[in-house]
Amino acid sequence: MSEKMIELLSGESRADIDRWIAKYPPEQKQSAVMAALRIAQEQNGGWLTEELIQAVAAYLAMEVMAVYEVASFYSMYELKPVGKHKISVCTNISCMLCGSDQVVEHLQQRLGIKLGETTADNRFTLKEVECLGACVNAPMFELNKNYYENLTPEAIDAILDGLD
Ligand code: FES
Repeated sequence: MSEKMIELLSGESRADIDRWIAKYPPEQKQSAVMAALRIAQEQNGGWLTEELIQAVAAYLAMEVMAVYEVASFYSMYELKPVGKHKISVCTNISCMLCGSDQVVEHLQQRLGIKLGETTADNRFTLKEVECLGACVNAPMFELNKNYYENLTPEAIDAILDGLD
């Protein structure tokens, strides 16, 4: 069963996870769980299926529930399909004080979706996240692993216009 589950991880993913496992003592390979989930998510177009969570658990010899707890706790993991471009808008205190409401409003209007939704053409997913550590240049969002800071409606339009 677990061998079969492990095969859901591609050879490339397993090699990548192995590089993370090697950073920890042999009996601590579960310390690679966050990296392993990220790698499994990238392999699957940006989200984690239950089977992939089970595969990560099997690969790291962990309880499935323990891996699921990590996957469901951190906002960078997705448990359902996402669009090609994922926009994670910080609405925590510094961003809120510097206008994240306006950022959210502009994005929702431009994309025609609410927070937590994906556009019908699967191009964009919009989500709300907690502080991403870029408070000094609030308001900000993360888009496809890059940070965009000091956002204004004009800046947002320029960013989205530049996407494929
Ligand atoms: S509060 Fe938004 S990045 Fe910290």
